[in-house]
Amino acid sequence: MKHDKIERNVGLLLVLTMLAISAGGLVEIVPLFFIKETVEKVDGVRPYSPLELRGRDIYIREGCYLCHSQMIRPFRDEALRYGHYSLAAESKYDHPFQWGSKRTGPDLARVGGKYSNDWHTQHLTAPRSLVPQSVMPNYPWLVKTDLDYSDIQARMRALRVTGVPYSVSEAEYQNNIKEFGEDVAKSLHIPDAEKNLVAQAQAGNFDTKPEKLSEMDALVSYLQMLGTLVDFKKYDDDYFVQFR
Ligand code: HEC
Repeated sequence: MKHDKIERNVGLLLVLTMLAISAGGLVEIVPLFFIKETVEKVDGVRPYSPLELRGRDIYIREGCYLCHSQMIRPFRDEALRYGHYSLAAESKYDHPFQWGSKRTGPDLARVGGKYSNDWHTQHLTAPRSLVPQSVMPNYPWLVKTDLDYSDIQARMRALRVTGVPYSVSEAEYQNNIKEFGEDVAKSLHIPDAEKNLVAQAQAGNFDTKPEKLSEMDALVSYLQMLGTLVDFKKYDDDYFVQFR
């Protein structure tokens, strides 16, 4: 048999093995050079508003990612518990992404809208007042600390460098209107960041204290939008109809 020859000749086997692996590698890698984007565009996905972005930065500062993932894997048990599995597009404006690898607490990728602002504020201040067996730390300073947003424009400009389409010029702003609609485009305009941040905090009343703009406002505004951007009801996805 011809195969005998290959199996008895280590040198030949090595060369042919390398050839087989290279062919496999090429087939996987080369097509990626020819497609424009590896992340499929999905309706509804947009960059964070200034307030949400500030909230995300507090989430990172407090190390929430050490206990919480933001990545629902495409398995039945995950989807039953957390909702539709995470799409690549849903974290395409996240730098750094918050997928995480540790779940001491539940996944938060779709926690938006699951609880009221009241609940989040109380839970973050004293988790055990709502969930007696919780091992989550208290974060009592969030509601007491005024939100410092003096550097919000710099935070947005930093993300611009990584490709997040926050706008600085009128032309970019007009582009964003085409891409995301007028309401979203306004919130992505860097020169108006402070104004938009304060307006969203006042309208949302996230920390349930209308007179104060606290770090809690920012963090809860972030938690409340997680996983809410894509309207999965629009997609005819038979497998997931049963979970709605
Ligand atoms: C030491 C690990 C730990 C850290 C750090 C931690 N959490 Fe948690 N978290 C948990 C656990 C455990 C639960 C489940 C029990 C509960 O609801 O308190 C939880 C629950 C939650 C829930 C409710 C999720 C749901 O679907 O019911 C939210 C929201 C949340 N955490 C947000 C945060 C935020 C924001 C931070 C950072 C400021 C944070 N957590 C830090 C462990 C942690």
